[in-house]
Amino acid sequence: MSKPDDTMEKLVSLCKRRGFIFPSSEIYGGLKSCWDYGPLGVELKRNVKEAWWQHMVRRRADVVGIDCSILMHPKVWETSGHLAGFNDPMVDCKTCKARFRADTMESQVCPKKPSKRPGECDGELTEPRQFNLMFKTSMGPVENSDSVVYLRPETAQGIFVNFKNVVDTCRMKPPFGIAQQGKSFRNEIVTENFIFRSREFEQMEMEFFVPPAEADKWYEFWRDARYAWFTDLGVNKDKLRLREHDSDELAHYSKCCADIEYEFPFGWKELEGIANRTDFDLQRHAEATGRDLRFFDDQSKERYFPHVIEPALGVDRATLTFLVDAYDEEELAEGDTRTVLHLHPSLAPIKAGIFPLVKKEGLPEIAHNLEDELRSEFNVFYDQSGAIGRRYRRQDEVGTPFGITIDFDTKTDQAVTIRERDSMAQERVALDQVKNYLRGRVLPEQA
Ligand code: GAP
Repeated sequence: MSKPDDTMEKLVSLCKRRGFIFPSSEIYGGLKSCWDYGPLGVELKRNVKEAWWQHMVRRRADVVGIDCSILMHPKVWETSGHLAGFNDPMVDCKTCKARFRADTMESQVCPKKPSKRPGECDGELTEPRQFNLMFKTSMGPVENSDSVVYLRPETAQGIFVNFKNVVDTCRMKPPFGIAQQGKSFRNEIVTENFIFRSREFEQMEMEFFVPPAEADKWYEFWRDARYAWFTDLGVNKDKLRLREHDSDELAHYSKCCADIEYEFPFGWKELEGIANRTDFDLQRHAEATGRDLRFFDDQSKERYFPHVIEPALGVDRATLTFLVDAYDEEELAEGDTRTVLHLHPSLAPIKAGIFPLVKKEGLPEIAHNLEDELRSEFNVFYDQSGAIGRRYRRQDEVGTPFGITIDFDTKTDQAVTIRERDSMAQERVALDQVKNYLRGRVLPEQA
């Protein structure tokens, strides 16, 4: 495990101070493990989701999207195995009554004596028992056993139950995929590390349906493609690894699985899982509903259950990874440091800061005209207050890749100075070329 440092503390503080992420219901004291994305955070998260959607859906003829309801028929969860088996082992401390996840005791602390692990204080622990992670609620005006529904713990099941609808309506033929982004809920025993593990989170999942004989090939394809997605978006390769699961780690439905792991300040942790789910889900839903969920290949005249390769990623966990990986404190000169987020330009919440050098002599007017022109395509930020160096630094801290300065020369040469965040190099660009300049550098297609 890597040495814990204070990067997380600094990042959490930056996220709060600059409007990326706030604790939920903060004025009421907060709600543990729930988070609100502020104005910059929501832009960053949308950009992460957009980059995934472009990569997984829009640029591929063999993948389509779907958006299913969060509440599903309760039988779905019986069939998928979640009601019986989506459990974590839990223990209680008989003294302080705190609850712990029995399988991760080494990373938990006693709430009364934070220097001790649970059970290493004077408290006696109960035997482990299974705790189901599904959130239960009730649907409709009458609350009884027939009205019980669950908040989905994964987006994947919505895709499986719509397999036939998509095949029939979109004429998709294996190998093909269905992708979904949306909220999932898990009543985790322990939540930890800011937005890394929470009880309400978003997932981006894709189920790729393949002829059984092609499953190994596609598993390798998606495992490697998913790894490359992160590095193409700038994540440091030294902190990213692929780890194949041992057979005793595999979920009940999967034949093989690899995790993409990132080395966070709190250690190597799972970021995304790529699993070969075989035909487990389609088979089970077919049995439970009596519907024929096999695919009929009209060329070979064969009817079969496709096997499924599933890349499954948490949006919040991906967002945290991009933030942690981008965070840097750079020493520029003796005693002069800057905090900078080296976010990939396509992910950065603000694409360019627009700075008139002074607040007079017609420079703000030129700057506002440029702002209006750019805003139709890019999220830009106008700032005329303070010294230009301070304005650059404020944008460095939130990851803005370009700073555009309108100076006295602009009035005569019709050009601006564009400063690049990471190198801090400056170049002169014609006013009427600024939009093209940004197009070539910050659009998601560049990822
Ligand atoms: N359909 C398969 C599935 O849901 P998973 O490994 O349980 O697999 C996939 O979840 C991804 O969802 C994880 O790799 C992680 O990125 C994210 N995730 C899972 N539980 C989470 C939680 N409590 N908080 C935040 N993200 C979570």
